[in-house]
Amino acid sequence: MENRPVRSTLVQMTELVLPQHTNQLGSLLGGQLMHWIDICAAISGYKLNGKVCVTASVDKIDFLSPIRIGDVVSLVSSVNRAFSTSMEVGVKVFAESFKEGIKTHSNSAYLTFVSITESGIPVESNKVFPETGEEERRFQEAFQRRENRIRKRCK
Ligand SMILES: CC(C)(COP(=O)(O)OP(=O)(O)OC[C@H]1O[C@@H](n2cnc3c(N)ncnc32)[C@H](O)[C@@H]1OP(=O)(O)O)[C@@H](O)C(=O)NCCC(=O)NCCS
Repeated sequence: MENRPVRSTLVQMTELVLPQHTNQLGSLLGGQLMHWIDICAAISGYKLNGKVCVTASVDKIDFLSPIRIGDVVSLVSSVNRAFSTSMEVGVKVFAESFKEGIKTHSNSAYLTFVSITESGIPVESNKVFPETGEEERRFQEAFQRRENRIRKRCK
């Protein structure tokens, strides 16, 4: 197993909000945003291990403000910490309206992925190490979040 820098798992994805992504009022559908979050995070997981990874869980996602048709949505993800076969990926979402010249941080999400073999068996994950203060904070907090998830699953 290798120990790789968090930055090697960085993924940046950009989407334009079109009519097929919105509800009747022209606001981005929550399910569409969750799909983009899932894809962006899965690519971070794929970069770490070079193997297919599946979503094991998604932590609570809050929709803080509506994202409108015509807005540009930017997603940034990286692996916060890898454990045995699972890893936590963090995704930050920004919405930008060029018409109004505003860019807002609209969502953050934490997802757990597990790298698997072609027959679906979990495999040992490569690990990541933080290099910046921010990455170190996320690395430490990811451990606590994992403990909380395990506690909830055991209830
Ligand atoms: C995720 C999955 C591979 C786990 O397989 P499993 O046989 O239960 O394996 P284990 O119990 O050994 O768990 C493997 C790892 O997943 C983690 N895990 C399992 N269920 C989890 C959950 N609900 N939330 C977070 N982590 C979970 C375990 O903590 C373990 O992590 P670790 O090895 O780092 O300690 C399996 O449940 C699966 O294939 N689920 C369907 C995934 C899928 O289809 N995703 C698409 C979403 S629709």
